[in-house]
Amino acid sequence: MNPKSIVKGKIHYVGVNDRTKHLFEAIWPIPYGVSYNSYLIDDEVVALVDTVDVCYFEVYLRKIRSVIGERPIQYLIINHMEPDHSGSIRLIKEHYPNITIVGNKQTFGMIEGFYGVHGNCMQVVDGDCLDLGYHKLRFYLTPMVHWPETMMTFDHTDGVLFSGDAFGCFGTVDGGFMDSCINTDHYWGEMTRYYSNIVGKYGTPVQKALNKLNSLLTIEVLCSTHGPVWTDDNVCKVIEVYDRLSRYDADEGVVIAYGSMYGNTEQMAEAIAAELSAQGIRNIVMHNLSKSHQSYVISDIFKYKGLIVGSPTYNTQLFPAVEELLSKISGRDVKGRYFGYFGSFAWAGTAVKHLTEFAEKSKFEVVSAPVDMKCGMSDAVYEQCEALGAAMAARLKQDRNG
Ligand code: FEO
Repeated sequence: MNPKSIVKGKIHYVGVNDRTKHLFEAIWPIPYGVSYNSYLIDDEVVALVDTVDVCYFEVYLRKIRSVIGERPIQYLIINHMEPDHSGSIRLIKEHYPNITIVGNKQTFGMIEGFYGVHGNCMQVVDGDCLDLGYHKLRFYLTPMVHWPETMMTFDHTDGVLFSGDAFGCFGTVDGGFMDSCINTDHYWGEMTRYYSNIVGKYGTPVQKALNKLNSLLTIEVLCSTHGPVWTDDNVCKVIEVYDRLSRYDADEGVVIAYGSMYGNTEQMAEAIAAELSAQGIRNIVMHNLSKSHQSYVISDIFKYKGLIVGSPTYNTQLFPAVEELLSKISGRDVKGRYFGYFGSFAWAGTAVKHLTEFAEKSKFEVVSAPVDMKCGMSDAVYEQCEALGAAMAARLKQDRNG
């Protein structure tokens, strides 16, 4: 038995850290790395909850054996099938050939499809129980958080929720994995970036899952598949972060995201930002989309209520990075933002037209008329940009009292 791996009582952390990958899902930068968390319940019979990325199998197996030695594992519970968690299923099955895999109707086809593994399965439905001896587990189906087979496992004995990706965040767990043993400051921003980029499209299923959990469970420990194990006051804090983000609720503030080839469109962004500041808006985040990675922009858009987008006309279309951002916003079905926009052109002014189409489709509340600039800044364009900034500030301030 390894005392350093204890989460609570007989529950152990056997996850691993990935500090090698630059991009999670080959898309999202992970400057703090990422952990793939798996948990082992060392009861009368042993249960393993989720696995890890197969690249880390050797260290994973060593961690498992440091807890249970040569004892067999009776159950492998699969809450989520994305390969960062399911990747070691085939090798676990090779090392523990009598293991029973626990999943729901959606799980087993994926196991067969990804890994060619079948046989010894226990199919559960919502609310089913599994008795390990001391620990009594119950399964809750939470489809589309953020895959169709996603479910959660709750240990009613110790109040521990194994939540899959839900309540996860980017960032390895360095030294300790319990929130009480480490400095958790940087995880909160990485939680918003993780949620908004990875789970962000599925606000409605996340809300359904949260309502189900709230009505059924008293959670004392939150064991996600990514990031620290959360305890005490942090349990409520983490759930609140996920609740707000999945309702698209946001703080007062403005994201100004723009493309600019030669700095002219950027000057419009500067004028708008200066006016926002002059009007008392403190949270202003500016993203030059040729430099900021989209994952940070999306994260800030989930964080703040105001969004202003600017684009030069490029080959009669939007600037490519602006087009990419709009596609990501639409893909996440972001709701309830106050929206402003501006564009520029030298000889064929279509950027504002395309942004108008986006504004209509998104159903965002447009705070004022767009600003369209031919070539470079003029006094008239400055004034229009200031008017746009002032209109956004006024709309945000209306909410302060209400
Ligand atoms: Fe961490 Fe959806 O996998």
